[in-house]
Amino acid sequence: MKTKGKFITLEGIEGAGKTTQLAVVQSCLEEQGVDVLTTREPGGSPIGERIRALLLDPDLKGIAADTELLLMFAARAEHLEKKIQPALENGIWVLCDRFTDATYAYQGGGRGIELERIALLEEYVQDSMRPDLTLLFDLPVATGIARAGRRSAPDRFESEAVCFFEDVRTGYLAIAQSNPERVRVIEAGVPVEQVSDQVRRQVTAFLKEIDR
Ligand code: TMP
Repeated sequence: MKTKGKFITLEGIEGAGKTTQLAVVQSCLEEQGVDVLTTREPGGSPIGERIRALLLDPDLKGIAADTELLLMFAARAEHLEKKIQPALENGIWVLCDRFTDATYAYQGGGRGIELERIALLEEYVQDSMRPDLTLLFDLPVATGIARAGRRSAPDRFESEAVCFFEDVRTGYLAIAQSNPERVRVIEAGVPVEQVSDQVRRQVTAFLKEIDR
């Protein structure tokens, strides 16, 4: 039987640079001969990408917080069943740009949904499935917003106020504090090369740990 693949997630507020760093993680792993699948949430599957389009549509400003939460988990259920689980079972490592920590940070921290309710859905959709490693790209909200603002027109989340992202950031840091084994915080407010160096160090340390 093949050894199961590992599941690695990247998290952070907008403008944290995680999409750029996903390529760094991928190349670190591939240099070690690991088969890697990269994907993202919300999305990652045909149905999930359609749900993503709904979730990010700036015209849908009035969406209820619970609808947003349930759509995140609907996309996740599809993603897990169709893409993530089959890859892991085939020994492929999955690198995912955001996962359930984003739900705790955005729908919990940002929108104020009780974390216990999110935990119920997490249990229902994922059972005991959790990432093996999470890289949390942390930076001041103002820096993140300035970086994200240089890209395309803002989506529904990017149009939120600064205080929303402050709450999201606080939510993420709380997750890191309660899950020190799984979550490694990367200081992302520094020049990109320095962020990449931290990422390479963390991935190398993880590979060593699982080799033991
Ligand atoms: P992205 O722009 O990083 O791809 O993420 C899309 C947006 O979706 C981002 O603003 C964060 C948000 N999001 C949530 O609010 N909850 C979630 O569970 C996930 C996965 C993303």
